[in-house]
Amino acid sequence: MLNVAVFGSGRGSNFAAIVNAIEDRRLSGVRIAVVISNNSGAGILEIARTRQIPAVHISQKQYADGVQYHAALLRILEEHGADFIVLAGYMKRVPDGIIQRYRNRIINIHPALLPKFGGAGMYGMRVHEAVIEAGEKYSGATVHLVDEEYDRGAIVLQKRVAVTSNDTPESLAARVLAIEHEILPSALRLFAEGKIVVNGNAVVVH
Ligand code: GRF
Repeated sequence: MLNVAVFGSGRGSNFAAIVNAIEDRRLSGVRIAVVISNNSGAGILEIARTRQIPAVHISQKQYADGVQYHAALLRILEEHGADFIVLAGYMKRVPDGIIQRYRNRIINIHPALLPKFGGAGMYGMRVHEAVIEAGEKYSGATVHLVDEEYDRGAIVLQKRVAVTSNDTPESLAARVLAIEHEILPSALRLFAEGKIVVNGNAVVVH
């Protein structure tokens, strides 16, 4: 069983896609241990509460320094028995100590075909604006391992979608989001089934 802690800052549609996959029995071997958000008003916390899943608001602002914040975050993960982390629209940096502790057991969903259109500042509508601006023929979504470098971890799953000539950032975002909701549960299923092997900076799916 994968005991997953989900980190998110926003509406939580990717989290909902995971929970729906579990409830519809399309995803087994995965249990959401806790949902953590830096934003007390985030939709993702509300979705967790309606499903009786532990929902925790924690922000670095509540702590005197990064060390205490990091310790508090780690305590929450330990108290809930989390052995895997999913970043689903999480806008804050995960402390390096937690990345080390959960090495190769943290994944993130990004709304573009990494390594293109990733990195600091590349999030939300900005990604889709940049893809259209660049005249890309394709975009898509990527599930990747999280390491200390933003959006640079090894790719686990990727799926592409054609960019049409009359696409707006909003219309493209909607099609990419549908792909996110498909590949994030699929990636979790691969981890739960033990099919993901990490060799250095490469992921091999068995
Ligand atoms: C998604 O587009 C995801 O790719 C990005 O942030 C957004 C989160 O959306 N990291 P939601 O909160 O899961 O609806």
